[in-house]
Amino acid sequence: MTSARGTVFVTTYGCQMNDLDSELVRGHLTRAGFRVAASEAEADIVLLNTCSVRALAEQKVWSQLGRLAAEKHTHRPALVIGVLGCMAEREAAHLAARMPEVDVICGPSNLDRLPELLAKVATQAGRQVSIAGHASRRSSTLEAADDGVETLDRSRAFSPIDSKFQAYVRVTRGCNKLCSFCVVPFVRGPEVHREPDAILDEVKRLCDAGARELTLLGQTVNHYRYSDGGKTTTFAELLWRVHESVPELPRLRFVTSYPRDFGDDILDVMAAAPRINRYLHLPAQSGSSRLLKLMNRGYSIEEYEALVARAREKLPDVRFAGDMIAGFPSETDADHQSSVALLLRVRYKNAFIFKYSPREGTAAARRLADDVAEETKKQRNLELLAAQTEVSAAANCAELGHVLEVLVESEGRLRTDRASRADAFVPLGANTHRLIGRTRYDEIVAFDGPLALIGQQVRVRAREATSLTILGDLVA
Ligand code: SAH
Ligand code: F3S
Repeated sequence: MTSARGTVFVTTYGCQMNDLDSELVRGHLTRAGFRVAASEAEADIVLLNTCSVRALAEQKVWSQLGRLAAEKHTHRPALVIGVLGCMAEREAAHLAARMPEVDVICGPSNLDRLPELLAKVATQAGRQVSIAGHASRRSSTLEAADDGVETLDRSRAFSPIDSKFQAYVRVTRGCNKLCSFCVVPFVRGPEVHREPDAILDEVKRLCDAGARELTLLGQTVNHYRYSDGGKTTTFAELLWRVHESVPELPRLRFVTSYPRDFGDDILDVMAAAPRINRYLHLPAQSGSSRLLKLMNRGYSIEEYEALVARAREKLPDVRFAGDMIAGFPSETDADHQSSVALLLRVRYKNAFIFKYSPREGTAAARRLADDVAEETKKQRNLELLAAQTEVSAAANCAELGHVLEVLVESEGRLRTDRASRADAFVPLGANTHRLIGRTRYDEIVAFDGPLALIGQQVRVRAREATSLTILGDLVA
């Protein structure tokens, strides 16, 4: 069945911000008369919501576009192809020149305009391009009201049928940090903090519609700050207000924390609020203060570790996740060993480890030679991964025999709406399924049980563990 305006399939690449954008785009288009297709093959309109953070993320999109363009030529001439998100913003001109098959190019700050852009394509108006041109703008904080995407956040659907029990709520768009390696400020633009009342309203409506876990999103979420006349709301105040406004919500979390300007006030709110997860995603990027300086991160390794210690003092059971970049310009063996040593000292629950990828337009790409050989980058990446795998496995093994409180998220299976593989499908008995959930420490737990448990909190006794997953049995 097709709808009057066509059926749409959105594939998401990249971060949680993109997951949220895709969800809002689906809702926005549905209300404008489009229908969401169950698969790409059934869709009239295929939208790729893209990521630019590393070259590899973009290469994946170029190859998908190549495939879609070929399909359009051979047997789907009416197919409408759209590129959304960070790569649309960064590569608009290049996409337009290289891919005549692409009908819509729409940056992350212009997604509210998609229904209009697709309507124009339908009237044979030719390719539609809508980007904000952040790369050429000076970094400064805008008011949320000046920003078109606020419309998208505010137009969210809150019916229990649409909503999942896990939801993201944006508190800040964009980023003002200008870390020297990072393209995000150029594609998502300067920081825009949303009005606290708009956030609280969204939170309440999501909970009324059945949300059981909310994640507040910002690139540097602890930098949230909203001033209205004489009154300023800090992130700690916002977090507390959210927590208090939805006493029925079992789980509240937030990402990503920036290792500078992370006040005790946030830790105090967490300590006073048992429904806030005991989990901080606190990317270090390197264990070498010299490199942190070149990265323009604004903290030294001593300052980073002082924050980790402060958090552990206030919240003795808190777990950390980290990000590390291997092979940043001028990284020596000694710098690299400092990164390995940091992983071992902080004992992250998990860490996202990336090979440095120079991004056009960033300060690092302009000023610093990409001088670490590819082989060395690879080797360092593997060493960091090996160290982290050991730390993660030890942390998970420490849970063996314990009963864990698990919020059940999904059946372990291949997800079709994302570009990455979530989990292998494991066929079991008719009423028993492999279920996946998380603890309030963000540990991933797999166990067998009925599908009806999805969205519920259950108790699982840990039986086996790998670096990625704890395997356990439901406790009656
Ligand atoms: N504050 C953001 C960071 C976005 S980028 C957040 O919400 O997580 C995510 C991670 O990608 C960064 O923490 C960094 O570790 C990595 N990254 C960013 N730019 C990179 C680059 N040019 N090369 C390699 N890794 C990069
Ligand atoms: Fe990127 Fe640094 Fe902001 S990593 S998203 S510029 S905090």
